[in-house]
Amino acid sequence: MNMPHDLAPIPLVDLKTQSRALKAEVLERMGAVIDEARYILGQEVQQFEDAFAAYCQTAHCVGMANGTEALHMALRALEIGPGDEVITAGNSFAATALAVEYAGADCVLVDVSPQDFNLDVTLIERAITPRTKAIIPVHLYGQPADMTAICQLARQHGLKIIEDAAQAHGAEHGGRRCGSFGDIGCFSFYPGKNLGAFGDGGAAVTDDPALAEKLRALRNYGQKQKNRHDLLGFNCRLDTLQACVLLAKLRHLEDWTQRRRKVARWYREELADCDVVLPAEREDARHVYHLFVIRTARRDALIANLAEQQIACGIHYPHPLNRAQPFRQARTVPPDLPECSRLAGEIVSLPMYPEMTRPQVARVAAAVAAFATSQESAHESV
Ligand SMILES: Cc1ncc(COP(=O)(O)O)c(C=O)c1O
Repeated sequence: MNMPHDLAPIPLVDLKTQSRALKAEVLERMGAVIDEARYILGQEVQQFEDAFAAYCQTAHCVGMANGTEALHMALRALEIGPGDEVITAGNSFAATALAVEYAGADCVLVDVSPQDFNLDVTLIERAITPRTKAIIPVHLYGQPADMTAICQLARQHGLKIIEDAAQAHGAEHGGRRCGSFGDIGCFSFYPGKNLGAFGDGGAAVTDDPALAEKLRALRNYGQKQKNRHDLLGFNCRLDTLQACVLLAKLRHLEDWTQRRRKVARWYREELADCDVVLPAEREDARHVYHLFVIRTARRDALIANLAEQQIACGIHYPHPLNRAQPFRQARTVPPDLPECSRLAGEIVSLPMYPEMTRPQVARVAAAVAAFATSQESAHESV
């Protein structure tokens, strides 16, 4: 049975439309891999690495099994481990802090700016101690962190930078691509990401040839040459079959990014007079809208109301990292991360994907506006 268009469910993310359009090309590429049985580090991995390095404006890209391992390998490549502190944002996805723990270092969680949801640079400075070795800025939701200020601070204090660009493929700060500012930039190709595989995938990009060589060895049992294990390595290579998917998709990434930005513009127009806080876009930034995150004090009621109208929303993320069991002992600056806590209770991710149509955006926005207005009048009549 076909649903009337204006009642059809609106998902948070639509992976099917994009995958259907590319299925024939992906299957053809995968067929060639299967025919030659080049499953591990086949030529498609290198082809994708070259193309993605160029896309990120970096000299090198090393494909990884996922974004978490890209971060973990980046920390290992920079020889950050026990006794070292690594500063990151308290509102990130758990993987950022997990990678620091895998390396044996101590994660220091810093509060964020409620304007752009990214690390508050003045607080990073307060968090630095003699043990601090690196900063991991997270370009959360696709909005670049203030890399000019962060790079300057890192230079002053002799700190490494590993960018967590898992949500920020193609995002720019001052015209330069995210991932290209730090010593190493890390990406995730989890299926729902702006560039997503048909399974897990990730990458680390860098301009430093020695770091690139080390990352290549680290992901492949520590081998620089076959059967010479010079490093304590891991097994976290990007699959050749996933590289086929990523090669097919990368050509479309720019177009998809433009469309995401258009969807964001439509949301802004439709929600301009609505009593919710819209995401700020930094002037020096190209936000790539992995997520379109609004804020409202009545978040849970809004999500329930939209769900009744078949509109799916998300929360990225419902708890700051210092509330999660593995990071309860982490030092927080300032104590208890007040902005992260407040945001965690107010944020809502509205449906966002490149194929979203203006009528779909209008329907979501009308539902949000109707809810906000009903809450206002309920409040006034008390
Ligand atoms: C900000 C951030 N960092 C790291 C990761 C980890 O990536 P993956 O799921 O590919 O391991 C993700 C996504 O899942 C993420 O959103």
